[in-house]
Amino acid sequence: MLRGKTVLLGVSGSIAAYKTAYLASALKKLNADVHVLMTKNATNFINPITFETLTGNKCLVDTFDRNFEFNVEHVSLAKQADVVMIAPASANVIGKLAHGIADDMLTTTVMACKCRKFIAPAMNTNMFENPVVQDNLEILRGYGYEIITPAVGYLACGDTGAGKMPEPALLLEYILRDTAYEKDMEGLNVLVTAGPTQEPVDPVRYITNHSTGKMGYAIAQVCMRRGANVTLVSGPSMLEPPQFIDFVPVTTAKEMFNQVTERSADQNIIIKAAAVADYRPKNISSEKVKKKDGEMALEMERTDDILAWLGSHKRPGQFLCGFSMETENVLENSRKKLRKKNVDMIAANSLKTEGAGFGGDTNVITIITEDGEVSLDKMTKEEAASKLLDRIMERYN
Ligand SMILES: Cc1cc2nc3c(=O)[nH]c(=O)nc-3n(C[C@H](O)[C@H](O)[C@H](O)COP(=O)(O)O)c2cc1C
Repeated sequence: MLRGKTVLLGVSGSIAAYKTAYLASALKKLNADVHVLMTKNATNFINPITFETLTGNKCLVDTFDRNFEFNVEHVSLAKQADVVMIAPASANVIGKLAHGIADDMLTTTVMACKCRKFIAPAMNTNMFENPVVQDNLEILRGYGYEIITPAVGYLACGDTGAGKMPEPALLLEYILRDTAYEKDMEGLNVLVTAGPTQEPVDPVRYITNHSTGKMGYAIAQVCMRRGANVTLVSGPSMLEPPQFIDFVPVTTAKEMFNQVTERSADQNIIIKAAAVADYRPKNISSEKVKKKDGEMALEMERTDDILAWLGSHKRPGQFLCGFSMETENVLENSRKKLRKKNVDMIAANSLKTEGAGFGGDTNVITIITEDGEVSLDKMTKEEAASKLLDRIMERYN
């Protein structure tokens, strides 16, 4: 995902420095070219060899190191960089950068960088709340740095409060949002539905399906990374909601219907990836569940058809994509759905195809539009999401 991208990680003298090793490793696994710059004080907390082993690149500490191929290293790295993240950023480094002091490799290189720069402050709460630090952060914001709000929690010094460096997964998401994709969906409002719904039978039991939400969450995440303003309306899922989106949790088909229809008018693109239960028990109470010969008999009624409602209320220029999960006649049934429900695109997947459907990390989808169909190979749900969005963006407008 980050192939061809150069990421500079700046590490300064904070106990949180060890967490940056996880970040460096995660970036490398996504094929980024990762270069770590450490302050001399940071080497008291974590050894440069750790970063060198994880990234395959020399970890730079000393501006005047003579042991390198000739080029002015801080300038050449600064020119290569697509994104810089200083994590952890000590109060000292924040102060230096805010006031133009470039007296080591980290501060010198960062000052020569023209790309996007993130600062993840990490320090004791009293230090973080000190007006000097807050003023310096404000100055850096004014120079175009993005300051990542520290987490609140138990700090290594024994205090509890603001100042904790956020977890590497969140720092990674800042980098991916900035760097992983072209921003071809900038400014578009996209609503995605995901997950199953749960239909209560009585106060204890419910009916649901095997959807985990993975496909819909991947779509929402890729839309966000491509610059869209994303609303994710999700049924119950074990997944962490993606960062930087508007997350709307729901339980029943009715709640999902209400949340989607309420927001639909403002959306440019709507993608229904949720596996909404088609039916729900009619009588939701223990007494009303009829029992015949020890067996439970449930009277069922249809739930609202969200896709059909969206198709019949489509705004001019709005793009509507639905998913269709079939066990047989996948293409024929999906094409019928496309016309009957007035949608622009159906992503069809068969529950019988290996590597497709609920739960797994891969999918095999066929993208069906009025003018034809394209079958994608088996790929990760994120890759499938990206290909689907390419097709939507070709047709949108
Ligand atoms: C155990 C220990 C933990 C520290 N943790 C932090 C910290 O989280 N944040 C911070 O700003 N300074 C912290 N400091 C103080 C800095 O290391 C010190 O201000 C140092 O001069 C920073 O140098 P640098 O900015 O060049 O890396 C810590 C010091 C020690 C001894």
